[in-house]
Amino acid sequence: MYFHGTTKINNRGHLEIGGLDTVDLAEHFGTPLYVYDVALIRERARGFKKTFDLLNVPAQVAYASKAFSTVAMVQLANEEGLSLDVVSGGELYTALQAEFPAEKIHFHGNNKSVEELAMAIDAQIGCIVVDNFYELELLAQICESKKVKTSILLRVTPGIEAHTHDYILTGQEDSKFGFDLQNGQAEKALLEALKSEWFDVLGVHCHIGSQIFETTGFILAAQKLFEKLSQWQNSHQFHSKVLNLGGGFGIRYTDEDEPLQAHQYVEEIISEVKKLAQQNNMQMPEIWIEPGRSLVGDAGTTLYKVGSRKEVPNVRNYLAVDGGMTDNIRPALYQAKYEAVLANRPLAAIEETVSIAGKCCESGDMLIWDLPLPKACDNDLLAVFCTGAYGYSMSNNYNRIPRPPVVFVENGEATLVVKRESYQDLVRLDLPLNSKVKI
Ligand code: LLP
Repeated sequence: MYFHGTTKINNRGHLEIGGLDTVDLAEHFGTPLYVYDVALIRERARGFKKTFDLLNVPAQVAYASKAFSTVAMVQLANEEGLSLDVVSGGELYTALQAEFPAEKIHFHGNNKSVEELAMAIDAQIGCIVVDNFYELELLAQICESKKVKTSILLRVTPGIEAHTHDYILTGQEDSKFGFDLQNGQAEKALLEALKSEWFDVLGVHCHIGSQIFETTGFILAAQKLFEKLSQWQNSHQFHSKVLNLGGGFGIRYTDEDEPLQAHQYVEEIISEVKKLAQQNNMQMPEIWIEPGRSLVGDAGTTLYKVGSRKEVPNVRNYLAVDGGMTDNIRPALYQAKYEAVLANRPLAAIEETVSIAGKCCESGDMLIWDLPLPKACDNDLLAVFCTGAYGYSMSNNYNRIPRPPVVFVENGEATLVVKRESYQDLVRLDLPLNSKVKI
């Protein structure tokens, strides 16, 4: 079994994270419970930042908060000197509540509303990543009405789709995001943006995919971007101060995954960008990246209590836990794979293969298929690893199941950073049948 970060087996024979026994954590906070290994998040953040610093390359490492956005997480990102990528008014609000420095916030999204853009302008955030012509116009109007200038990046689609080990080159990318680089849309957007007195165009942004294990996709993207940037330098005297290559760095969910280390991704990206800048006689731009999953993914573990069992003779054994697709929708949505152990007896001999079911009224509510485990019973605790990214952030209340709490653990101390939802919380916004509204 592969343990991430500070996760280990302690002298009571239990799984321990951040110096705390997971059995004690489950007893204290109840289950299901999201546990985050804070030291590992710090290590991951420093891993990205250090390489830029060592190579003396101006950079911003922006945490893509969609992976896991809460006030405490945003505060932690700030403690580690990261910038922040937000993608909605809600994520921006969370960041502002956490008193994250506004000038280090970047705002993404393919359909930002007037209210969201106005909120970003009022907060004087660092930059808005403009996605389309509609937004370009809307943002100019908002800036004009407020008489405030803003910095922007243009999100472009370079015609590269990267997934894990594959990357696909397409002339024109079929994506809802960004200005197409190949068909002239990106150049048209640039000219419009440069014309506006309300924009300081910092540069370009692209994001080629998620859970990527190689550098090839990033290198190709940089090459495609430079091809255009050098044309734009010659024909429009536009100097891109920033090159944002997005996120997508892969992590190890199971044995099948072999991610690179942060420094490997960063070193190769830097060396390619340096080479391209030289070849094209351009100034070295600042390099920005936006890791989400690779900062928090393997730092998260979900603890569940084992409940019912169903045996289908000669087919499979189902073991149900007290959570499921409401706290981790990724297996149902993406067939995502996870590893797990019994947290209260991780060393017990493997006796069977079981499939871990959630408690929702839905056959597709499965967390793990065919997991080797000791014969588990209803006093056992199941720890599912690597649930730190897109677990809590994609959680939901299907079947009116309350969301689990989130606890940060570090150096033997626990901090409750999100409370468990209560049944009262579930009906908080509900109104009775007789609450007619006059229109
Ligand atoms: N930047 C942009 C513009 C993005 O769209 C994303 C992710 C990121 C950065 C961060 O990517 P990461 O480093 O976390 O891979 N819900 C899916 C993942 C969706 C990713 C969307 N964009 C999942 O659970 O796998």
